[in-house]
Amino acid sequence: MPDLVADNIEKQLGTAQVLCGVSFQLQQREILALLGPSGSGKTTLLRSVAGLERPDAGKIELRGKIVFDAGSGFEIPAEQRGLGLVFQSYAIWPHRSVFENVAYGLRLRRARETDIQKRVGEVLERLGLGHLGDRYAHQLSGGQQQRVALARAMVYNPPVLLLDEPLSNLDAKLREDARAWLREIIKQTETSALYVTHDQTEALAIADRILVLDRGRIQQEGPPEQIYAHPASRFAAEFMGSNNRLDGTLAEVVGNRARLTGEGWSLWGELRAEKKAQDAATGLVRVERLRLTDNAGTNHLKMKLRSALYLGERWEYVFYLAGLRIRVWGEERLAEGEYWVSFPETSLWIF
Ligand SMILES: Nc1ncnc2c1ncn2[C@@H]1O[C@H](COP(=O)(O)OP(=O)(O)O)[C@@H](O)[C@H]1O
Ligand SMILES: [Mg+2]
Repeated sequence: MPDLVADNIEKQLGTAQVLCGVSFQLQQREILALLGPSGSGKTTLLRSVAGLERPDAGKIELRGKIVFDAGSGFEIPAEQRGLGLVFQSYAIWPHRSVFENVAYGLRLRRARETDIQKRVGEVLERLGLGHLGDRYAHQLSGGQQQRVALARAMVYNPPVLLLDEPLSNLDAKLREDARAWLREIIKQTETSALYVTHDQTEALAIADRILVLDRGRIQQEGPPEQIYAHPASRFAAEFMGSNNRLDGTLAEVVGNRARLTGEGWSLWGELRAEKKAQDAATGLVRVERLRLTDNAGTNHLKMKLRSALYLGERWEYVFYLAGLRIRVWGEERLAEGEYWVSFPETSLWIF
């Protein structure tokens, strides 16, 4: 049985149709990322599951029990759904101790004092906060506050964790550390998690499966590798990874291959949309798929090096050919001049 089933959720806010029939399942012990740009409806969907927002249509089940059904008007209130919530703003009390922040929910539920001591102690220990119980929350670093927010969500042993951009208040370096740590912790506790983020790298790193959301609709769902390597739409292709974009015209279409042309260039790629010869089209290719090569050849373009940026673990070159601007990654400093850039046909997706 899945931990969570959302069936055909619709929600209008003001005049905007924010969710347009969203369905998904969260399996036991699974981390499911809900990935989409700002305004795509992620928070609204998460809040609907939590019971903080009432959908206009649809049904929600938690571990086989209906908690919301628009059809019959049935609804279990948020506090009785027992879900663990972590928000972007950690919503912790700065002038209470770490222990009291985490214990608050248990006190509200009138748990016994010995139970509270035991459960809060355990969760603080598990999240590496054992030595900070007496510290005031405002005395903690951002990363530690984030852990307190997570401890507070986990202290009930909730069946499902709901996390809304939980790392977005941390600076880039902390965030990288925190996502690995967070995935470990969720896996250790054997809970399942619905993880909302607009950050594709974070979704790829943390999730077992990703739902790509665009304007209130699920565009694609699948494991991270599949979403990244086989995007189903131009939206999904452009949203993930670091891309080069080539606008042009289709000169030939042969089955699922097509030749895209522009001023002074012509490249074969995989046709991923319903298009025919003479149609305008856009090619997309991940930056890491491009290579410099020594010779002319099919799908090689001779391009002029415009700039080279040193990024530490690699170089990023910018090449031009008439109106075409292409980024390529490489390992060494390049002298000024012209270079052959190779565009592998199966990596150039034409929409
Ligand atoms: N209370 C509201 N009234 C009207 N529109 C809203 C309200 N809350 C959110 N929206 C709109 O709903 C859309 C989705 O919002 P949200 O679920 O917060 O997206 P996300 O979390 O993906 O950024 C946005 O376009 C937002 O402007
Ligand atoms: Mg949001």
